[in-house]
Amino acid sequence: MTDHSEGLNRAATGTDAATDVDWDTQAASFDDEPDHGLRDPDVRRAWARRLTAWLPERPCDVLDLGCGTGSLSLLAAEQGHRVTGVDGSTAMVALARAKLAGRDAVFLVGDAAAPPVGEQRFDVVLVRHVLWALPDPGRALRHWRGLLRPGGRLVLVEGVWGTVSPAGIPADDLTALLAPLTGDVRLERLSQETELWGKEVDDERYAVVAVLE
Ligand SMILES: C[S@@+](CC[C@H](N)C(=O)[O-])C[C@H]1O[C@@H](n2cnc3c(N)ncnc32)[C@H](O)[C@@H]1O
Repeated sequence: MTDHSEGLNRAATGTDAATDVDWDTQAASFDDEPDHGLRDPDVRRAWARRLTAWLPERPCDVLDLGCGTGSLSLLAAEQGHRVTGVDGSTAMVALARAKLAGRDAVFLVGDAAAPPVGEQRFDVVLVRHVLWALPDPGRALRHWRGLLRPGGRLVLVEGVWGTVSPAGIPADDLTALLAPLTGDVRLERLSQETELWGKEVDDERYAVVAVLE
């Protein structure tokens, strides 16, 4: 992921929110990063393998929050899942719609913390590199729990990016926020998995799969 910490000048808590990132402006070049656009077949394959492991085997309903240009949405759709994507940026949503044209996927403009999905419920809430940017991650997690069907899961891919002015949410903070919601939390450290990032990284990268009772 691009280091958006430059110019944000914030601590690595995720609580101050990345409201000063203009995602509409970022959209056109967003996929240039290897882990964003997944254009390199090796990187793409690495993410596809992870998603296979993190998502249920049977076709299910996946809510991709802060879906960006829809790269993970596309992988999920290719694996047979029905995808609803939500993003606050109209430019990102336009790119996601184009990327998944003809697929079983719907994209909405809206707030990831309180997505406009009405009464619809999902088997998976998938969130990559977004929770850290929300003003109140704990509140968002509680809301997302309510969007899941019984036995549903949160798949959260997060990290702390940059070393000079790090931004993000550390794994320990995220697992602490999840503890009151479920005891079934699996943390996977991903910093050493260079095939996911298309390069060596020396900051904190991880995924959490939390199955809700
Ligand atoms: C770093 S990008 C990640 C995109 C995508 N999840 C991925 O992994 O490729 C963060 C995305 O979250 C979106 N975003 C940030 N805050 C949001 C909010 N409060 N509601 C909806 N989308 C938001 C941005 O527009 C951007 O598309």
